[in-house]
Amino acid sequence: MKKTLSMVLALLFLALSANAHGERMATLCFNVEETTVPMSPMLYGLFFEDINYAADGGLYAELLQNRSFEYRSFPDQQPYDAFTGWIFNHKMAGRGSVSVGTKAPLNDNNPRYMRVMVDKEPYKAVNTGYPDRIGQAGIFLKAGLTYQGFIYLRSLDYSGQVSVRLETLSGEALSETTLLSPQKQWEKHPYTLTALRGEKAVLAFTLLGTGTLDMDMATLFPGDAYGAHWPNGGLRADLVLALADLRPRFIRFPGGCVAEGSYTPENIYRWKDTIGPIEARRENENTWGGMQSYGLGFHEYFQLCEDLGAQPLPVVSAAMVCQVRDSRDLPLYGEALQDYIQDILDLIAYAKGPVDSPYGRLRAENGHPEPFSLNYLAIGNENWGSEYFYRYGQIAAAVKEHYPDIQLVVAAGPVAEGDLIEGSWATIKQRFPGDLVDEHYYMPTQWFLDNAHRYDSYSREHNPVFLGEYAAHEPVTGGRRPNNLRAALAEAAYLCGLERNADLVLLSCYAPLLAREGRQHWSPNLIWFNQSSVLKTPSYYVQQLFSATLGQEVLSSSLTGEGLHHVVTRGEDVVYVKIVNSRETGVSLSMEGVGVPDGQAAVTSLSGQPHQVNSFVKPDTLSPRKGSLTFTSGNASLTLPPWSVYIIEIPLQTQP
Ligand code: AHR
Repeated sequence: MKKTLSMVLALLFLALSANAHGERMATLCFNVEETTVPMSPMLYGLFFEDINYAADGGLYAELLQNRSFEYRSFPDQQPYDAFTGWIFNHKMAGRGSVSVGTKAPLNDNNPRYMRVMVDKEPYKAVNTGYPDRIGQAGIFLKAGLTYQGFIYLRSLDYSGQVSVRLETLSGEALSETTLLSPQKQWEKHPYTLTALRGEKAVLAFTLLGTGTLDMDMATLFPGDAYGAHWPNGGLRADLVLALADLRPRFIRFPGGCVAEGSYTPENIYRWKDTIGPIEARRENENTWGGMQSYGLGFHEYFQLCEDLGAQPLPVVSAAMVCQVRDSRDLPLYGEALQDYIQDILDLIAYAKGPVDSPYGRLRAENGHPEPFSLNYLAIGNENWGSEYFYRYGQIAAAVKEHYPDIQLVVAAGPVAEGDLIEGSWATIKQRFPGDLVDEHYYMPTQWFLDNAHRYDSYSREHNPVFLGEYAAHEPVTGGRRPNNLRAALAEAAYLCGLERNADLVLLSCYAPLLAREGRQHWSPNLIWFNQSSVLKTPSYYVQQLFSATLGQEVLSSSLTGEGLHHVVTRGEDVVYVKIVNSRETGVSLSMEGVGVPDGQAAVTSLSGQPHQVNSFVKPDTLSPRKGSLTFTSGNASLTLPPWSVYIIEIPLQTQP
C-alpha cells in the first residue's frame, strides 16, 4: 500500500515537473524592489602566477628564453643549466667552445654570462625562444613586424663582428642582418629586425671573428607588445586583451606558491629584485620550473592593474616558504624577519609614497611619478598552523601600524573541508577579526554543484571571505584535466552562490589563469595560449559573463524546479538573472518579475555537451550566444537547453 502511494506521488511529481517535450518545468519569481544584500563591487578578479609559463614565455613579451644564462636546476624539476634555450651549431665542427663566465659580470644581480672562444669562424649561438618541444623553433614571427632587442658584449681578444638575425632552425634568413662590433668593456648593443615572413624562428648570433667574447642579456621584443614604450619591455598584446575582456576588479600577484618560494628562504619572491632595468633584476628559480626573469615585475604589475582599472592585490610570503611542498627550510626569525617586514613596508611605500619620498622617487625613476593605488595586501599564500599565524600577526601588526587603511588578507590553508580549515578559521576569528580570509580549493565538479550554498551558513560577525583560488576539476584524460563545459557550468552554479552571499564573499578569482600549450605544469587553466594564438575556455566565458553583469544589490528570489542554480541581482537600471542548468534535460522556465516593465531583455547563453572543450583547432566550439526575450506584465518564458547557463539583462527603464 505504502509502495503504491509513493509510486503514485512520484508519477504525479513527474507529471507536474516535466512537460510533453520531457523538459523540466521551473518558475522563477522576484521583485525588483526587494533586495537582500549589497553586491561586492570587487567580486571578480584575476589570479596571476608564473606557472605554466604564464609570465616568462607568456604574458611577458620577451621572446628569448634564458636570456642571461642564469638558468639552474632546482629540486623536483627537470634539469636546467646555463645554456637551456640555447643551441650551438659549432659543436660537431669543433670550431670553438662555450663556458659559463662569472668573473667581472654585468652586475652583481646578474652573476653569469656566456664566454665563447672561437677558433674558427663563423660560430653560431642560437636562442630558440620557448618552443613547445625541445628541438623546435619557439619564436613565432608576424610578417612585416619589427622586433627590437639588445645584447651585452665584451671582447677579451675577440676580433671581428657579430651578426644578429632571425632565422629558421635550419639557418634560412627570416630578417635582415645587423652587425655588432664588440668593445673591450661590457657594452649594450641594440638591434631592430623586421620579419620577412610569418614563421617559426630562432634568434641567431653568428660570431664572424675569432678569439674570446663574453655575451650576456640577449633580448627580443615584438614591436606590437602592449606597453612597448614601458622602460623595461611590455606584455603580449593578445593576452592583455583577453585579460581586459574579463573586466577584473583586482589582480592577485605573484602567486600562488611562487610568492612563497620553495625549499630555501632565498627562493622567497622579493619585490626589490623585480624592479628597475631588466639586466639588473636578480633572477630566481621558479618553483614550477625554469627561472623567473622578473621581467614582469612589481612595477609592470602595478602599471597593468592601473591600465585595466583593477586594484592590485599583492601576495607576499609570510616569511616562510611553501608549506604545501612540505618545505625543508625554517621560516625567518629575529633580524631576518624584521628585515623582511621592512621589505613589505617598502613595497607599500613604493606603490603609495609621494614622489619626494625615497621609494616614491624610485617609482618615478621607473616611469610612474604618481602613486599607484594599493588597498589590499595578502600575507601568506596557502598557509596554516601556529608558525604561520605567529608570522602573520607580526607582519600584519607592522602593516596596520603604518597603513591602517590597507585591507589585509589572511590565509586559511589549501583545503575546502576538514580540521585544517576549521582550525584556521577558529584562530582567525579570534585573533584577526575583520581581515579577509583567503580560501583555496580545487575540487571535483560535483562538489561545486553540491556546495553552491556553502556560504549561506557562514557567520557574518567576524571575517569576510576572499575565494583566492578555485576551479572545478574533472578526471584526467589524455594527461590533463579538461576545461570542459561540465566544469564551467559547475563553476557558474557556484558563482551564483557567491553572488547571493556577496555581503560575505567580497573577492574571488579562478586559478590558474594562464597556460602555455604543451608546457603546462597544471590543468585546468582559464586561458591557454601558444606562440600565436589565445584559447578561451568555457570557464573563461563563465567568468567573463558573470563579471560583465555584476549588479549592485542582490534581489530576493525563489525558484521552483530541480537541478537549477540561480541568482537575481540589480544594477542602477537593470536586473540580471543568472540561471544554470547542469543536467541532461531541458527546462521550460517561467519568470515572474514584479516591477519589470514591458519590453525586450538581452539574453546571453553558453551551452553544449558536457564533455565539450575548446581547442586551438576548434576554438569556438563553446562560446556565448546572444538573443533576446520579451517581458509582458512582468512575465516571460524561456527554454533552457540541457547543460546551459543563461544570463538575462532586463532593462528597468521602459523602452520607447
Ligand atoms: O594555482 C596553482 C597552485 O595551487 C598555486 O600556486 C598554489 O597556491 C595552489 O596550491
